[in-house]
Amino acid sequence: MDHDLDAHLADAAAAIVAAVDLDEVRALDAELLGRRSVISTAKKRLGGLEADERRDAGRRLNEVRAELERLLDGRRTELESDERVHRLESERLDLTELDRGRRLGHRHVVTRTWEHLEDLFVGMGYTVVEGPEIEDEWHNFGALNFPLGHPARDMYDTLYVDYGESMSTLLRTHTSPVQIRVMETTGPPIYSVMPGRVFRSDTADATHMPVFHQIEGLVVDRDTTFGDLAGTIQAFTAAYFGADFESRLRPSYFPFTEPSAEFDIRRPDGSWLELGGCGMVHPEVLRACGLDPEEWQGFAFGFGLDRLALMRHGIDDLRELFRNDHRFLSQF
Ligand code: DAH
Repeated sequence: MDHDLDAHLADAAAAIVAAVDLDEVRALDAELLGRRSVISTAKKRLGGLEADERRDAGRRLNEVRAELERLLDGRRTELESDERVHRLESERLDLTELDRGRRLGHRHVVTRTWEHLEDLFVGMGYTVVEGPEIEDEWHNFGALNFPLGHPARDMYDTLYVDYGESMSTLLRTHTSPVQIRVMETTGPPIYSVMPGRVFRSDTADATHMPVFHQIEGLVVDRDTTFGDLAGTIQAFTAAYFGADFESRLRPSYFPFTEPSAEFDIRRPDGSWLELGGCGMVHPEVLRACGLDPEEWQGFAFGFGLDRLALMRHGIDDLRELFRNDHRFLSQF
């Protein structure tokens, strides 16, 4: 019997070492220690032995059983740690992937246009100022020389906010109200740009969005001329688009500038694109901000950031910028 047990133990030890996973260890555990195992069967036969023999055989059986348990436990622990290593390995995130430029996230193309323009103007000595998106009627229209009921107010499909008196509070329709806020709070000389989000009750199409972005520029100083305005527009165009892009001014009308102009950009292929408006700050606007037009003159300009981003990247539909389709946005 001892010999049989030794052989059994040797076979069992080999099988345990060979077990490849925890399921196999579990099956071996049942086979080697369960009710129908060699050990259990031998134990049942002990009753037929003499007292001395029974004691020795019983002790030997217990030793073998303890050894089998030890071997099973050992193999189980080994496999458990293998499995953990394996799982960790399979769940590991390969962070080296992030080193490959195209997979790295980046800021939205409009945000980058915004920041690029800020950088250009800061480089030209301008400060960057922001104003509130919810405005009062005075800053958005009144101080900009749109009297109440003035037809030019209809140029803007204004979204009003249900606050205070009817039509007294609105979502700003342009960044021009920030000009007023700058003149009210800082005295001249002023050299500032004012980027921001603006709102109009427009239906989204390839060239319009109800929420879009503009950047405004304002210079107020002594002896500021229309030539300074034209030079500034040209300097910014060349810096942003490249030296082979040109700008031109066309006469236009805005209540807050006199004279007023629209400016276009000429692409290297010769085509002209309308970009924004500009002009000399209207004396009434200077007066509304407490400045004497005899002493101070200024120029202002404003244009859409989203359109600029479209032009620079050759995108043909404004709506694409705001669908948040990562496959589209990651190209820019
Ligand atoms: N605020 C005008 C608009 O949204 C754009 C504009 C035109 C801004 C002329 C200016 C300006 O500062 O001088 O249509």
